[in-house]
Amino acid sequence: MTSADRAAAHKLIIDTDPGIDDAMAIHYACADSRIELVGLTTIFGNVFIHQATRNALFLLEQAGYDADVAEGAEHPIIMTPNPPSHYVHGDEGLGDLSAPDVSEQADSRPAWAYISEMCRQFPGEIVLCPVGPLTNIARLLEHDPDIVCYVRKLVIMGGAVWVPGNVTDYAEANIWNDPHAADMVFAADWDIDLIGLDVTQKIACDAKDFDQIAEASPQIGGFLKQISEFYIRFYHSVLGREVCIMHDPSAVISVTDPELFSYRKAEIEVMTDGDEIGRTRAVEGSGRRQVNVAVDARCDDVRKRFLDICAQADKMKTARG
Ligand code: BDR
Ligand code: CA
Repeated sequence: MTSADRAAAHKLIIDTDPGIDDAMAIHYACADSRIELVGLTTIFGNVFIHQATRNALFLLEQAGYDADVAEGAEHPIIMTPNPPSHYVHGDEGLGDLSAPDVSEQADSRPAWAYISEMCRQFPGEIVLCPVGPLTNIARLLEHDPDIVCYVRKLVIMGGAVWVPGNVTDYAEANIWNDPHAADMVFAADWDIDLIGLDVTQKIACDAKDFDQIAEASPQIGGFLKQISEFYIRFYHSVLGREVCIMHDPSAVISVTDPELFSYRKAEIEVMTDGDEIGRTRAVEGSGRRQVNVAVDARCDDVRKRFLDICAQADKMKTARG
């Protein structure tokens, strides 16, 4: 990235539990010249924390992308952790693939401290994009409450406001994995775009789409095709359709292309106990800042954006040297 590109780019930290669709979102971000990926912070969720950190390091090495990785929380703030969702993402988080080797190490700072320092170094510039449980972000608020003035905005993949959940009738997986943390994040006074199941379930790619990326970009596209196969089998088993639902990539795409999405404003509270635990509920009169909840999208344009950018992934890697 030239210094002019860097100045124009969207500075991004992705807080992630890679995870198949997380890996897709990360490779997308690395391949989009409009994004400057500052770092990845890791979180338990789809996999155990050591696997999340290892996969994050691996994905950046695979992309030849120079960004930091800082390890985050291994369990929720209050609850006992749910088991990792290996049945969705594979034993190592990368579908049928075995554990990758990595040569780099994570930053010595915990995720919350890394995010705090980077956002203070670039006040008002960094978009924070959590695509896993919100524990690191809640820890950030606990340690550094004034950080709300330094973050440009949060773009969160999570929640199901006006649609059913995907883990229970009410709860989406990322919020379900740490509802107490999520409620703290929605209670804080910062700008939030919520890219949850209300919209992400409408955005899908299929095997032919991944064939196309693999042909255009054999190394990184080929890898994305490989990991998509496990995810497509999972979605076939639950939806009866051979598709890959693009949860986490949609959140990253909305950072650069918000006009592809339509939003509705709502105050959001998270249920932290009872049958509806993990539910993201729209309420009125809570005194909380309103969240921009994505409710629809030009789904085919979002899908095409993903395919076009990922088709360039190998070329972008070569250009970075
Ligand atoms: C979310 O849960 C995880 O399985 C995915 O990576 C995504 O972040 C979708 O509910
Ligand atoms: Ca995720």
